[in-house]
Amino acid sequence: MVSWIFLAFCVLLLTSVISSHISCPLHCDCVQRMVNCTSRGLHKIPDNIPLHTELLFLSENRLTNLVKQIPFLPRLLDLNLSTNQIKQLGRGSIFQNLTELRLLDLSNNKFRTLFNGVFRGLYKLETLIITNGHLKFIDEHVFDDMSNLKHLNLRENSIHSMPVEWFYDMMNLVILELDNNEIYYLNSGTFTSLNNLRHLSLSHNRIRGISEKAFLGLRNLTTLLLNHNNIAEVPTVALQSMKRLKVFFLDANPIPKLVTDDFTLFSVKEISLSNTTTLQMIDRGAFRDLGNLEKVYLHNNPSLHYVDPHAFINVPKLRVLLLHKNNLSVLSYETVYERPAVQLTMYDNPLLCDCNVRWIQKALNKKENSSIHFLNSDQLKCSQPQILRSFPLKALSLASIPEQCEPVLVDSRNETVDTKMGDSQIFECRAFGIPPPKIHWIVPSGSVVNESNNDLRIQIKHSNILLLYHLKPKDSGIYQCVAENNMGVAIKNTVLQVGSVDIGLFPQRVSSTFVTVVWNGTARNNFPEYDILYKTDNRPGEQYQTVTVSYVYRSYTINNLEPDTSYKLCIAVKDKEEEKYIKLSCTHVHTRDASFIMQGIYTTSNVAVAVVLGIVAAMLCIVCLVSMAAKKYRQRHYETPEKSLITDMAHVPPENLNSPLMPRVGS
Ligand SMILES: *[C@@H]1O[C@H](CO)[C@@H](O)[C@H](O)[C@H]1NC(C)=O
Ligand SMILES: *[C@@H]1O[C@H](CO)[C@@H](O)[C@H](O)[C@H]1NC(C)=O
Ligand SMILES: *[C@@H]1O[C@H](CO)[C@@H](O)[C@H](O)[C@H]1NC(C)=O
Ligand SMILES: *[C@@H]1O[C@H](CO)[C@@H](O)[C@H](O)[C@H]1NC(C)=O
Ligand SMILES: *[C@@H]1O[C@H](CO)[C@@H](O)[C@H](O)[C@H]1NC(C)=O
Ligand SMILES: *[C@@H]1O[C@H](CO)[C@@H](O)[C@H](O)[C@H]1NC(C)=O
Ligand SMILES: *[C@@H]1O[C@H](CO)[C@@H](O)[C@H](O)[C@H]1NC(C)=O
Ligand SMILES: *[C@@H]1O[C@H](CO)[C@@H](O)[C@H](O)[C@H]1NC(C)=O
Ligand SMILES: *[C@@H]1O[C@H](CO)[C@@H](O)[C@H](O)[C@H]1NC(C)=O
Ligand SMILES: *[C@@H]1O[C@H](CO)[C@@H](O)[C@H](O)[C@H]1NC(C)=O
Repeated sequence: MVSWIFLAFCVLLLTSVISSHISCPLHCDCVQRMVNCTSRGLHKIPDNIPLHTELLFLSENRLTNLVKQIPFLPRLLDLNLSTNQIKQLGRGSIFQNLTELRLLDLSNNKFRTLFNGVFRGLYKLETLIITNGHLKFIDEHVFDDMSNLKHLNLRENSIHSMPVEWFYDMMNLVILELDNNEIYYLNSGTFTSLNNLRHLSLSHNRIRGISEKAFLGLRNLTTLLLNHNNIAEVPTVALQSMKRLKVFFLDANPIPKLVTDDFTLFSVKEISLSNTTTLQMIDRGAFRDLGNLEKVYLHNNPSLHYVDPHAFINVPKLRVLLLHKNNLSVLSYETVYERPAVQLTMYDNPLLCDCNVRWIQKALNKKENSSIHFLNSDQLKCSQPQILRSFPLKALSLASIPEQCEPVLVDSRNETVDTKMGDSQIFECRAFGIPPPKIHWIVPSGSVVNESNNDLRIQIKHSNILLLYHLKPKDSGIYQCVAENNMGVAIKNTVLQVGSVDIGLFPQRVSSTFVTVVWNGTARNNFPEYDILYKTDNRPGEQYQTVTVSYVYRSYTINNLEPDTSYKLCIAVKDKEEEKYIKLSCTHVHTRDASFIMQGIYTTSNVAVAVVLGIVAAMLCIVCLVSMAAKKYRQRHYETPEKSLITDMAHVPPENLNSPLMPRVGS
């Protein structure tokens, strides 16, 4: 019996030895120079792969470790190792013998790190794909010598930063995909050597900052995808370094508003900024001097309620503008007129059907030689006035639409704004109407202010923006934006309340000739210095005496007071402009009679000592905490690489690293 089994085993061994020279590894299919071992449940790479193999497919198996397993295959061009269980690639140059390799796919595996040297020898590699993995740490020089790489795909990993060294040698890279990672900042100079890059995608990351020099070197880039990040403002300067950029996606970022010159002076043809919940306004000149711009996608922004009539300045080639599913009630004809031919979408907006839609109705019914073409025009419906709700715009009779109408304010709700002394405030006001309304402002004093106003604290910009600086309580009141044309007036009232700051003054120690006052509250540091004012009560005509104290003070002792007298004490700030004091908090005290024994001094100095001791103790605590935090951080920072270093150096596959205390189940 035993000898029969032995014989069968010998035969099997013999056939497999012979077949290694003349045919294919067991379980694999071989067609010409392709060896297909896809999805065969393999735990290790078969060791009899023909020497002349050019394509080797090993995906969807159970490989866990490649160290010392990759055979000598001097003609191999494609190696697919995706969808395995590879836990680490180690520190050795495991691919060294595959000198002809052009494509390497390592997607969907379990390794988290790439150490320097792992790809050494892959000089001819053109495509490297590691998607859908767990990559977190990539050494700085992992990609050294990959000067023939054309396509690098690292999508769907956990990469959070990109050292500038990564791309040094990739002069020929054309496509770089880094979508769905955790990158949070684009440093200056990261891509400087990528002169041939055409496509850079960084969508679905956590980018919140972009250096002005982040895109230097990307002279040939045509497509840049930055959608679904945390970018709150357009990276205007950074964009200008890419002279051949054609397509730029910035969708689904928390941008609240596009302001003048946000997009300017770059070569782009197509800009997409849709799917935000934050975008509210597009101001005058937000798109300016863009000679190649043809398509602008601004749809699906449910908060977008204003597009300035001059949002596009010197954008001669604009021919597609998507504005559907926004919150626009009016779109001015000026936005799109005098252009060769424009395709527009405006459906699913709460349109106001007054004189402002006249041009749209004409365009829909081709009344004039209109070059403006509305897509999905049947879906264009009135939302206001109430009587026309849901009425199709196309069916509206032109005669029923007036040629002129009174101003309509964008966001006409009257509101109340609470601020604090010393703050600044900006009010903006925008209106539509035919003829275009003029805007002026009326301030609480009743005076009309305009751009020639010379008060430094109150300024007007572009007539529709009112700026108030260094607010004082007397600035409280109603600010009116008045939009006016020959058809009528629209007014928006904003009530400004300049609250006093949170500071309170209290007597702490009262003696016959001196009083110690203390002050507390969150506004103790709001001003560089405060003034303590004091005078006797009930003595008409008496001026306050003053002392100036720095913001670091918390108490002050006023000496040389009269015994048995009522005083009023205040903490105040100086209004330099008007040379008077603005009182923030006041208190009253009555000094003791002359017989009162003055022991207060000791208390006061005790308080001072206690304060000093308290500060010292607090500083010691902070030093302690900081050093502890730093220690913790260092530990965590090194943990991952070091662990894998230990397992790697020992060349032991992790599943064999059982603890001696654990029973070795199944072996
Ligand atoms: C490789 O084998 C798998 C599984 O048998 C098969 O689905 C696949 O089409 C093969 N690939 C090629 C290129 O022949
Ligand atoms: C590698 O194999 C997987 C699954 O078998 C396949 O989806 C993938 O496209 C292959 N990679 C390349 C670069 O062909
Ligand atoms: C590369 O091939 C040489 C010669 O066949 C062999 O000695 C060496 O171990 C191989 N290196 C690797 C990393 O497999
Ligand atoms: C851009 O690409 C073209 C064609 O591939 C190449 O000739 C040129 O050198 C590249 N430009 C720069 C600035 O590298
Ligand atoms: C915007 O949202 C729509 C619908 O949710 C989706 O189909 C589209 O792909 C998104 N576009 C971008 C650029 O995110
Ligand atoms: C759309 O505009 C209306 C009227 O101005 C406003 O009440 C509403 O809150 C806006 N919707 C969004 C999502 O901002
Ligand atoms: C009709 O088209 C011509 C040439 O495109 C243009 O000059 C003219 O202003 C257009 N007329 C109107 C009413 O838009
Ligand atoms: C805002 O106040 C002005 C002036 O008092 C008034 O005419 C207007 O109707 C108010 N607007 C709203 C939306 O209540
Ligand atoms: C601004 O207002 C003043 C006085 O009300 C007026 O004399 C002046 O012409 C106005 N300037 C402008 C630019 O409207
Ligand atoms: C300031 O001090 C007074 C009197 O000691 C106290 O009543 C008040 O709650 C304090 N306020 C703050 C904000 O600490």
